[in-house]
Amino acid sequence: MTDLARSEARAFLERPAGLPRPCRVVAAIPENYRTRTIVLDTALEARPGQFCMLWLPGLDEKPFSVQSAAPAAFTIAAVGPFSRAVHRLAAGDRIWLRGPFGRPFRRTGRDHLLVGGGYGVAPMLFLAREARARGERVRAVVGAREARDLLLADALREAGAELWLTTEDGSAGLPGRVTDAIAPMLAEDPPDSLYACGPHPMLAALARLAAARGLPAQLSWEAYMRCGIGICGSCEQEGMLLCTDGPVLDQPASV
Ligand SMILES: Cc1cc2nc3c(=O)[nH]c(=O)nc-3n(C[C@H](O)[C@H](O)[C@H](O)COP(=O)(O)OP(=O)(O)OC[C@H]3O[C@@H](n4cnc5c(N)ncnc54)[C@H](O)[C@@H]3O)c2cc1C
Ligand code: FES
Repeated sequence: MTDLARSEARAFLERPAGLPRPCRVVAAIPENYRTRTIVLDTALEARPGQFCMLWLPGLDEKPFSVQSAAPAAFTIAAVGPFSRAVHRLAAGDRIWLRGPFGRPFRRTGRDHLLVGGGYGVAPMLFLAREARARGERVRAVVGAREARDLLLADALREAGAELWLTTEDGSAGLPGRVTDAIAPMLAEDPPDSLYACGPHPMLAALARLAAARGLPAQLSWEAYMRCGIGICGSCEQEGMLLCTDGPVLDQPASV
């Protein structure tokens, strides 16, 4: 190993965010039938839109959006082996954390339209709290397939967001997709900027809508992540590393 490589390796290891640090679960709060918020006994210097790598030794390490920085909290849907294992953790159990990583949302203007689909609502709650703490207007649209999938609506309301709910089956809120709810808002009372996190098709539809109206938009995209810090290449999409160039990208950007 050259001296340069050695000093770079040392610098990496000495970075507070570079190595997993052990944390304890303080609370595991049920949010819906398959989603919980895990609150940890640590605080993060994180911005809305950033993510952390959560590690359970012997199992896996996966990225999760920061829902709250102080205390650190993550809203996690149980969909597979890792997320189910996180759901089995109780107060006092240990989990390891690296981060925060990635490019956050940057608030533009003072009138913000936030759109969250599925667990993509988690970073939107963090962003809503940040904007409302500065007295800015926040409209939030939360979309889900059906009523039981809706997430963090009360928390957004408590944060001071004007809230719209949409469900594809019409079982709660406005029937249809988030794009159906925001199209009239964009026409009648456009915000300064649009921010969104959620499934890829939802983001693609929002990108088209924003582009058609010339509205600045920042969208948070998901990819398969291993290192989270721009080394392994597993999150590469169209020449970008989504862990460091993203996950939040300004639109227009093609993903
Ligand atoms: C930047 C970033 C931020 C993320 N933030 C969050 C977050 O805040 N909360 C969160 O819960 N997850 C988040 N994820 C996803 C998370 O990292 C894992 O991919 C997820 O927890 C599944 O991991 P697993 O090992 O449990 O299941 P896997 O083995 O990876 O998946 C199990 C099965 O479930 C399917 N699946 C995966 N995700 C979903 C889903 N959402 N709905 C339905 N089926 C699904 C997979 O296709 C697969 O068939 C984020 C991912 C990225 C890249
Ligand atoms: S996750 Fe390794 S380069 Fe992005």
